[in-house]
Amino acid sequence: MDFFSSLPKKENGRKMERTLSIVKPDGVRKNIVGEVVKRFEKSGLRVSAVKMVSLTRKEAEGFYAVHRARPFFGSLTEFMSSGPVVVMVLTGDGAIKKVRDLMGATDPGKADPGTIRRDFADSIESNIVHGSDAPETAAFEIGYFFNALEIVN
Ligand code: CMP
Repeated sequence: MDFFSSLPKKENGRKMERTLSIVKPDGVRKNIVGEVVKRFEKSGLRVSAVKMVSLTRKEAEGFYAVHRARPFFGSLTEFMSSGPVVVMVLTGDGAIKKVRDLMGATDPGKADPGTIRRDFADSIESNIVHGSDAPETAAFEIGYFFNALEIVN
């Protein structure tokens, strides 16, 4: 069993993984929550937990603590607390990479055609969606928003 949830390591012989994704305030404002979730589901990922929250500045700072020394930390955390976000746990074979491939590069100008950020994002900061970048980050980020009892699928 996985250390932060009741995720079986394998399903039908495939290695299962969980990741955290966020539809950021710009994605909610653009009314594309469903479009983002649809792309995740179409790729074979399943939504295991989901909720809408309005982050306080402090909560955004806690989530992005690894970036606290970066010059963009202030504006990133202001942006992330500027409106509601949709946070979700996604489960599937290679879920972390799958989500990152679907999102595209951080900078939408550098993101591949057909990715979420290329299709919808306005800037490197207002880039619609977040996805964990490694198993350790996923464990921290999932635990930041959900307890084990809330991850139900
Ligand atoms: P995300 O994948 O959520 O991880 C950190 C976030 O910081 C990133 O998406 C962007 O929203 C933001 N970010 C990363 N690099 C920059 C940058 N150079 N300028 C402004 N924001 C950035």
